[in-house]
Amino acid sequence: MMFLSEKIKAGDVVAIPTETVYGLGGDATNSIAVSKIFQYKNRPTFNPLIVHYSKIDEIINQYFISDFELQILKLMEKESITLILEKKNNCNVSLLCSNGSNLQAVRIPKKEITREFIAMCGVPIAAPSANKSNGLSPSSAIHVRESLKNENFYILDGGICESGIESTIVFCKNSEMEVLRYGAFDVDRLSLYNLKIKITNKKSGVISSGMLPKHYSPEAHLRLNSLELEKYEDGLLAFGTLPPSFNSKKIVIKNLSEKADLIEAAANLFKLLWEFDNEKIKNIAVMPIPNTGLGIAINDRLIRASK
Ligand code: TXA
Ligand code: MG
Repeated sequence: MMFLSEKIKAGDVVAIPTETVYGLGGDATNSIAVSKIFQYKNRPTFNPLIVHYSKIDEIINQYFISDFELQILKLMEKESITLILEKKNNCNVSLLCSNGSNLQAVRIPKKEITREFIAMCGVPIAAPSANKSNGLSPSSAIHVRESLKNENFYILDGGICESGIESTIVFCKNSEMEVLRYGAFDVDRLSLYNLKIKITNKKSGVISSGMLPKHYSPEAHLRLNSLELEKYEDGLLAFGTLPPSFNSKKIVIKNLSEKADLIEAAANLFKLLWEFDNEKIKNIAVMPIPNTGLGIAINDRLIRASK
């Protein structure tokens, strides 16, 4: 375990057991590590990831938590629940985990060895189920290896997952709870804990499965696949080497990856979009990004942001 925790700290990907299914884990505070997870899974979008903690204390100072949400957090070590929380400014989790939004899914696994491992790593662990996109969620180390045969990662073998289905994802508004994904935790069990929680069927419109409401887009207008600048443009989101025509212009240039590396580009994407917004850049030309591998997810996000 010590060896694997060093791998996590170094930005490598390690599949971890949980009581629900295996997750493909990486340091949630390291955008490059998170970017590798998307690449290995072959996700066509930056479908947001659940960030796993070893105990409540690690969550408390990083998110806004109502009394109501605190009750749910306290249940996490006993039940397979994932809660969507609003990040505070000091939250150190990469924006890539939440598709650029300020709403982050958090979970404390029930399985003891998983919590021990996370504590050993000293960082929260971002982990989607450890299968290729659209594949079945894996409930043993062998499933993980079969599903992601060709990728270069480690596995912490914690035996068979007890429940084999994913956690139940919930989102709270005032004192009502919305179930975003039904899963291993049966919400009827809330009564066992004497919790007065009203479950609502109203849709809050919170993101799910890659669906991105408009308000998570940057303020600036984006023009994609640009090889030349329009007169009114004041920003350039570059990828790789700049064409000579761009060099003379007095505009704000930010490069996703000078060496045209898609992992690095994905890791920088949200950070740079936020920077443009903070610098009040209004019209950004975006250089073409190859539509292969992680480039598909990057382009998907840029297309949504350009609308
Ligand atoms: O049991 C589980 O939840 C497993 C283990 C590894 O923890 N994880 C898991 O992750 O199932 P994943 O990525 O396969 O599914 C998480 C789902 C995704 O469909 C995603 O859309 C949704 O959670 N999700 C994550 N963050 C979200 C957010 N901020 N808002 C809305 N939905 C979110
Ligand atoms: Mg999954």
